[in-house]
Amino acid sequence: MTNPTNITTNTQTTICPKHVGIIMDGNGRWAKQRGKARTFGHKAGVESVRSAVKFAQQSGVQVLTLFAFSSENWKRPEDEVSILMELFMYVLGREVKRLHKNNVRLKVIGDTRRFSDKLQKKIAEAEAQTEQNTGLVLAVAANYGGRWDIVQSVNHHIKNKPGQLISEDDIHQQVSLSDFADLDLIIRTGGEQRISNFLLWHAAYAELYFSDELWPDFREESFAKAIKSFASRQRRFGLTGDQVENSK
Ligand code: IPE
Ligand code: IPE
Ligand code: MG
Repeated sequence: MTNPTNITTNTQTTICPKHVGIIMDGNGRWAKQRGKARTFGHKAGVESVRSAVKFAQQSGVQVLTLFAFSSENWKRPEDEVSILMELFMYVLGREVKRLHKNNVRLKVIGDTRRFSDKLQKKIAEAEAQTEQNTGLVLAVAANYGGRWDIVQSVNHHIKNKPGQLISEDDIHQQVSLSDFADLDLIIRTGGEQRISNFLLWHAAYAELYFSDELWPDFREESFAKAIKSFASRQRRFGLTGDQVENSK
């Protein structure tokens, strides 16, 4: 496995992105290719989650946000939704101890009120148990939508500062994960090139990386490739390339 902490490209030696978001897509197609039910793919995807977390820890990523269930995914067949919920419960129960041991801080972002009381309780316990950890922040986006996130932030403003115009800063401060590093890189597996209502606010200046691999096939080497691609890019944030070069 390549160690990406000090990737040297033609132009620069770059440190790892601080915050990586992953749209873990392609579980259903992975299962279909094997003549299995879609849920078989979701279960297989758990192993890729483990390897992504491990890789993020080793490579110096500070925040890893995984898109596990979108606010639109409720529209899927009922049995798929309920198996996804069960899987979430099961994985939370089984993995939290290990995450805690590895100093990982777990956060769940999204409108968790729609989940069962049991699942909400489990999420709250997992977050509380790992709250003081100082290593990787693992954010799981569940019943998450980028539009929902912006709206809940605006509503917070309306309640707290009624009648006052809202600024970018106001929105920024109340969207999910505002306490953590800005999103640097979005990886999407599964071959589609879209955001699907992931971290819309945060995506403004994130680099995008699309992989044709289906999520259950996405392992450390694939993650390393994405980081390498990130490292080779010049992020200009509206400046000219020369300005960026000269400010180094
Ligand atoms: C992503 O895989 C996982 C979730 C959305 C929960 P999909 O289930 O969307 O897999 P494809 O895109 O149908 O292959
Ligand atoms: C995005 O995948 C959501 C997650 C990975 C959780 P989808 O499979 O739901 O996205 P679309 O529907 O193809 O845009
Ligand atoms: Mg999909």
